[in-house]
Amino acid sequence: MGTHDITLTVNGEEEALTVESRTLLVHALREGVGDTAPKVGCESGKCGACTVHLDGEAVKSCMVLAAAADGGEVTTVSGLGGASGEGEGTAELDAVQTAFHEEHGLQCGYCTPGMVMTVEDLLAERPDPSEAEIRHQLKGNICRCTGYQNVVRAVETAADRLSEDPEAELGADAADADGGTASEVSD
Ligand code: FES
Ligand code: FES
Repeated sequence: MGTHDITLTVNGEEEALTVESRTLLVHALREGVGDTAPKVGCESGKCGACTVHLDGEAVKSCMVLAAAADGGEVTTVSGLGGASGEGEGTAELDAVQTAFHEEHGLQCGYCTPGMVMTVEDLLAERPDPSEAEIRHQLKGNICRCTGYQNVVRAVETAADRLSEDPEAELGADAADADGGTASEVSD
């Protein structure tokens, strides 16, 4: 099995890794970089638990070979956070994370890192999405706990807050994103 020396910039930190040809980006992040925010679920592109941003676009990191991501900029949910959090326990959360916290958009939390990264991508492209657009965007992110109602409410709350408060923040790379949507990569 061949190996590759690659470099990834993960949440702003440059990381040099040696990976096998078959190594998936999600495993490189979790085991090589030590960022366990992206979760391993189906490993076949169906559940969205592993969603991260690669060069500003939401991707399922189980569907990307680490070697193919060489030189890329990766943002995981660990790299989010800003000045928009309000209230005890939320000061380091960004607008989307804060809304998930407030609206109880999670139960066990396994799907949440991927959900949040998908929502960051949605709101960067569509700051005022309809409920149908929210549900469409999230169709590639499976949650076994919440029934999605609170997740949708969290996205609506985040969108409202971002429209009302210009100081509220999305994750930095999501705000810059100009690529395809998570729904496109999950199709
Ligand atoms: S683990 Fe990547 S989509 Fe399920
Ligand atoms: S909160 Fe448990 S899988 Fe979504």
